[in-house]
Amino acid sequence: MSVPLAATGSTRPESAPSESAPSASAPSASDAFRAHAVPDDVYQPQEDTALLIDAMTDRDLRGVRVLDLCTGSGAVAVAAARAGAQVTAVDSCPNAVAATRRRAAYADVELNVVHADLAGIDLTGFDPKGFDPKGFDLVTCNPPYVPTPPGSASSADGPSHAWNAGPDGRAVLDVLCVVGPRLLAPGGAMLIVQSELADVPRSLDALRAAGLHSTVVREREIPFGRVMTSRRSRLVAAGLLDPHAGTESIAVIGSEAPR
Ligand SMILES: C[S@@+](CC[C@H](N)C(=O)[O-])C[C@H]1O[C@@H](n2cnc3c(N)ncnc32)[C@H](O)[C@@H]1O
Repeated sequence: MSVPLAATGSTRPESAPSESAPSASAPSASDAFRAHAVPDDVYQPQEDTALLIDAMTDRDLRGVRVLDLCTGSGAVAVAAARAGAQVTAVDSCPNAVAATRRRAAYADVELNVVHADLAGIDLTGFDPKGFDPKGFDLVTCNPPYVPTPPGSASSADGPSHAWNAGPDGRAVLDVLCVVGPRLLAPGGAMLIVQSELADVPRSLDALRAAGLHSTVVREREIPFGRVMTSRRSRLVAAGLLDPHAGTESIAVIGSEAPR
């Protein structure tokens, strides 16, 4: 299922979709765009958000323990909770944590919202933040993945923190591909969304090396938005982008852990 989105395209533009009351119908990607307004300093749900929700809501989530990493505005986490999952949502940005709590309250769903860097999540020791030591049935993540030339402005309080991901776009993805598999219960699944510009085959290799069965389960071609457009010349100069490119493919990688 695809949903109508802001025409800005690309994974990291910042236009806010129009807002209205939440739907009482079955949860779907489009619900992510019908919550209360997302503040300017938090990532607005975009095409990548929708693609991840589409892949996630293909599954029966009733009673499933979901961990949504890099939760941002909480759009994915709330969609999972509305589909009947028990959800923990994590973000390293305090503004995103606050926005997710507001979205959950507005949608009238329960979420365990945790302010943490995903690199530090460890289920093997005592953890005061409520992570289930048995692991999660499903881990979802829409991480920052936009290749970011050196010297680009960034701030831990967002919003550039939501997309800036180092020169090759893999600053968070490489960590995620190591940490994510450790957070899964036996037989658990992981869904990660990223751009082709951040090397999808490298993610597949890393996840398979961690013992998961991983394939691309969704793909969508989208036009560049403001961030990608502003970086185009530097990415072309770095050999990361075809000079004629005006679109990028985003993919959802689905992984399954052994039982
Ligand atoms: C692209 S946004 C995704 C937001 C939301 N999940 C969505 O799909 O609309 C990425 C989010 O990751 C968060 N983030 C970046 N680095 C992180 C890290 N190391 N640990 C946890 N969260 C991180 C950012 O604060 C931002 O909210």
